[in-house]
Amino acid sequence: MEKKREKFGSRMAVIFAMAGSAIGLGNIWRFPYIVGEHGGAAFVLIYIVSTLLISMPVFVAEVSVGRRSRTSAYGALSRLSPNGWVWKAMGLLTVFIPLMIASYYSVIGGWSVNYLIKACSLSFLSQSPDEVTGMFGTFISSSWTPLVFHMLFLAACCMVVAGGVKSGIEKFSKLTIPMLFVLVLVILVYSVTLPGASSGVNYLLRPDFSQLTPRTFAYALGQSFYSLSLGMGCIITYGSYVSSKENILASSAGTAVSDLLFAILAGFAIMPAVFAAGIEPGAGPGLIFQSIPFIFTKMGMQLPLVSTVVSVLFFLTIVVAAMTSCISLVEVGVAYLWDRYSIRRPVGSLIIFMLCGLAGVLCSLSFGPLSSLTVGGKCIFDLFDWFASNILLLLAAFAVVVFVGFVMKKEDVWDEVTNSGAFKVNVKLFNLLYFLIKWVAPAALTLIFITNFIY
Ligand code: PHE
Repeated sequence: MEKKREKFGSRMAVIFAMAGSAIGLGNIWRFPYIVGEHGGAAFVLIYIVSTLLISMPVFVAEVSVGRRSRTSAYGALSRLSPNGWVWKAMGLLTVFIPLMIASYYSVIGGWSVNYLIKACSLSFLSQSPDEVTGMFGTFISSSWTPLVFHMLFLAACCMVVAGGVKSGIEKFSKLTIPMLFVLVLVILVYSVTLPGASSGVNYLLRPDFSQLTPRTFAYALGQSFYSLSLGMGCIITYGSYVSSKENILASSAGTAVSDLLFAILAGFAIMPAVFAAGIEPGAGPGLIFQSIPFIFTKMGMQLPLVSTVVSVLFFLTIVVAAMTSCISLVEVGVAYLWDRYSIRRPVGSLIIFMLCGLAGVLCSLSFGPLSSLTVGGKCIFDLFDWFASNILLLLAAFAVVVFVGFVMKKEDVWDEVTNSGAFKVNVKLFNLLYFLIKWVAPAALTLIFITNFIY
């Protein structure tokens, strides 16, 4: 008996949910930093081209596979192919990767909740800028507090997922995605009007072509894949909830544009403030948890009210953006448990909560008591991130494009993209898209994979 599957209610719902998955920590701290490191505007240009030419076709491929199979990431590929075991294994991988990512992503989510509370309780005002910078190290290396916040954050995400596709994920995304854009715009206006902000604007706008190396291309593509949540089963799973009347090309383009726009806005919201404060933009979590609080503290000495308001808005943005992404990660597992074992959403969410919660404990403690546990110089947290985003994700994305390009019939892809001929799609455009999926994307993925190993 076919089990009833929920669907998203409208095109906007699809775009909001997918944009929710896409817009996350990757846009807020990773994108602005990588842009500066890799030639400013020159990098943005390459990023846009790689998104259009490679990531977007892969995105369309993932949505098509999800919608056509109408099942979670695990069964999607094997359901569409007669000789299933390779694709079953790949499917299993696409369920495993998001669980791995959710485990460490929710640790950072927990840090953001803690910092939101710090902002609300005026913690940044009562200390010196240096104390605030140092506070981060002390916080993450302690045992209990980050764990409690990690669990809280993960529980909140699992609760939204338990609420269902329509009344949980769709409702939450519709509420939060517009809010995220408003928040980032408010912070941007504030940031670019600070004295000395122009060097931050230049940092993002100055095209420095001398910094472009093969590595830049790999970084741009890798970032674009991560940012669009590709290769993790999330988009396949969300694709399985897209109605058969929906235009896949339009919703994929809408999601990619929103994600790109948000990354650029976040860049202009963060970097001008960092430069105005006269600090070097740091990499990774240090940027949002050390540099930015340092700015709030410095600013708070003259303008305590403004500093408090902006700091609350800033950490609220991070918490919400991280939540909508983590929700899509949790959903992959919950959808799998439902499709494969008929485990109901609330129970499924609880199981995923326990699994990721437990794995997250190891990630969280790897900054404190477990910090000496390393493999190849990487602590557990870094290992999870590296293995999932640099190895597994590429492998899963590779499997999907090879599947769509070589296993699925071209007519079936056409059928999916045009909704069995209901939409007029230019044949040349389709052929280009198909070529990009079949040949360019696998080649590009192999290239990033190799580059990741060489450097
Ligand atoms: N796309 C998210 C971001 O930019 C990250 C993410 C990864 C979300 C994997 C879902 C799945 O932060």
